[in-house]
Amino acid sequence: NAALRAVVRRGISLGMEVFGIHKGYDGLLDGDFVGLKVESVGDIIHRGGTILHTARSQRFLTPEGVDLGAARLRGAAIGGLVVIGGDGSFRGMVELCKRGVAAVGIPATIDNDLSFTDYTIGFDTAVNTGVEAVNRLRDTATSHERVFVVETMGRHEGHLALAVGVAGGAETVLVPELPVNIDEICQKLQKGMDRGKLHSIIIVAEGAGSGFDVAKAIEKCLGLELRVTVLGHVQRGGTPSAFDRLIASRMGAKAVDLLAAGESNLMVGVSGTAMIATPMPEVLSTKRPIDLQVYNLAEDLAR
Ligand code: F6P
Repeated sequence: NAALRAVVRRGISLGMEVFGIHKGYDGLLDGDFVGLKVESVGDIIHRGGTILHTARSQRFLTPEGVDLGAARLRGAAIGGLVVIGGDGSFRGMVELCKRGVAAVGIPATIDNDLSFTDYTIGFDTAVNTGVEAVNRLRDTATSHERVFVVETMGRHEGHLALAVGVAGGAETVLVPELPVNIDEICQKLQKGMDRGKLHSIIIVAEGAGSGFDVAKAIEKCLGLELRVTVLGHVQRGGTPSAFDRLIASRMGAKAVDLLAAGESNLMVGVSGTAMIATPMPEVLSTKRPIDLQVYNLAEDLAR
């Protein structure tokens, strides 16, 4: 919403007429456009989700679907498109660009799994939600001297889980990018318990395996009863953090500026304190690796 607000208001500042498309590419195919004024995006900066709604569109995945999408934009005389989303949305955007559409992408996903931007919109809020959950679980974990498994979102990548694990002081973080060794985890937990540690928290990214399966395997080797919390979509909503609102506002304005300058097929990003733009095909062909330094730090600090 903060990005949408910035796109609308910067566009209007530059003398543009701005339209929103309801329900993502599905809405594009249906020509579900709505005129957006300054006041249309008032009072939304603090709200999670998107007032335009979104959808995973099966219809848009076909070449005919993309042809129709490009035709809809041409038919409505849209001179530039801003796509707010993750890699799936951006793959669609590149296809539209191939058909002559001018478009710029704004990275928005709690997974923070895109290269050429330090952060994607939503990640910081999701990390904070995860850490807040871990903080709360610690109370029971300590009182009852239990081992807790917390499953975070992240179907394919562990960036979110890793950040929650480090900031939440977890004993171990399991990510899809790296092999899972249950025996090693058990040894580490046992060592902690032998030292008198009262509780342990294990963070599992959804893509590294089910939190329940991990808990079962640990129960088997340690002979303990574990507790499991699956954060699920709770991590995907809520009031966006100040940091997310800040980068969303900057990215939204930057995307419009790029379109106004005649640029296209780019993704905006934040690099340190600077706003950058990278050709979208390059973004999509560069996988973001898990940060091994941070991963090793997590392991090292959790004693
Ligand atoms: O891609 C972002 C993400 O939040 C993943 O972390 C998660 O696995 C997935 O989306 C959930 O998607 P859905 O709401 O379609 O189940």
